[in-house]
Amino acid sequence: MLRPARAGRELPDFPWDSLAPAAARARAHPDGIVDLSVGTPVDPTPEVVAEALRAAADAPGYPQTWGTPALREAVAAWFARRRGVPGLDPDGVLPTIGSKELVAWLPTLLGLGPGDAVAHPRVAYPTYDVGARLAGARPVPVDGVADLPDDARLVWLNSPSNPTGHVLDVADMAAVVAWARERGAVVASDECYAELGWDEHLDAARGGLVPSVLDPRVCGGDHSGLLVVYSTSKQSNLAGYRAAFVAGDPALVADLLQVRKHAGMIVPRPVQAALVAALGDDAHVDAQRERYRARREVLREALGRAGFTVEASGAGLYLWCTRGEPAADSVSWLAERGVLVAPGSFYGAAGARHVRVALTAGDERVAAAARRW
Ligand SMILES: Cc1ncc(COP(=O)(O)O)c(C=O)c1O
Repeated sequence: MLRPARAGRELPDFPWDSLAPAAARARAHPDGIVDLSVGTPVDPTPEVVAEALRAAADAPGYPQTWGTPALREAVAAWFARRRGVPGLDPDGVLPTIGSKELVAWLPTLLGLGPGDAVAHPRVAYPTYDVGARLAGARPVPVDGVADLPDDARLVWLNSPSNPTGHVLDVADMAAVVAWARERGAVVASDECYAELGWDEHLDAARGGLVPSVLDPRVCGGDHSGLLVVYSTSKQSNLAGYRAAFVAGDPALVADLLQVRKHAGMIVPRPVQAALVAALGDDAHVDAQRERYRARREVLREALGRAGFTVEASGAGLYLWCTRGEPAADSVSWLAERGVLVAPGSFYGAAGARHVRVALTAGDERVAAAARRW
């Protein structure tokens, strides 16, 4: 008998379902809920991007799975301009339908399976684990390069991290690249919060941006075996467009493209045009960063007053904090005050005494939360 849901049986429960009781409590607050639990953008889609989508609305033919040449050139130009990565080969660029699907399917697309390990940060976005399971491979949470299992065929980096906001420096990344190159493993670096750096000391030589695994200081200018996974969901308020890409080693990208063409994993043509517009306009990204910076300051101060210590959080869309108590207690205390946050346990057992507070609420809601603490 066919068992279409079989793979799902090996997957963990979807963690957000377990937040329903806390959400109900927060919604009951007389001044309404402040939802800081999910990193979903709330500010408008930038006009320059919406206009590009509208202008490309007439799209009767099938789009290119590989993306238009203009899109691949735009990604290469963005890496050179914003990430300190000159010389990215446009052939090594492939648009994806948001980056979550790529994270979830990368081990499968690379042909990994039983007997292969997929390493990911110990406290991490849960989809790295899910992707390994979907492929039948073994997910292995690690603390750093010293921890990597010898049978790792894919090593995930996530910098800046969701949920902790920790940023890997050039030396951290270079050590992982060297380890992987010795063993023929692929390094995939999920960098979707790179434009949201808060600490000025972060890679000051590059104007405060966080380093990419494709940075010549990390990889010596050789992109073989390396992929960056990137999304405009966060920096450009485009989560609803599903506008993302993977870039790096042209040979690896050619392999991914081959499977994705067969499987129909194609970014719609108007979204490809919107992505070009988003990557070509730095002004809206700068404006959005400043909105988040202001909300972050308000929340950080209020969390301190409420007895929370904010740890790491040097970049990205979250404050990773603890009051030294189990995460469930912190979630309840905040829910009583009408504020919903995510327990750190969603991101691995090591997060059991932390909560993740997202910066993604409007200014009025953020001010309301701060008043209640
Ligand atoms: C680390 C990380 N990677 C990938 C994603 C997926 O983003 P999207 O599918 O919107 O591109 C997220 C979203 O929260 C994330 O935090």
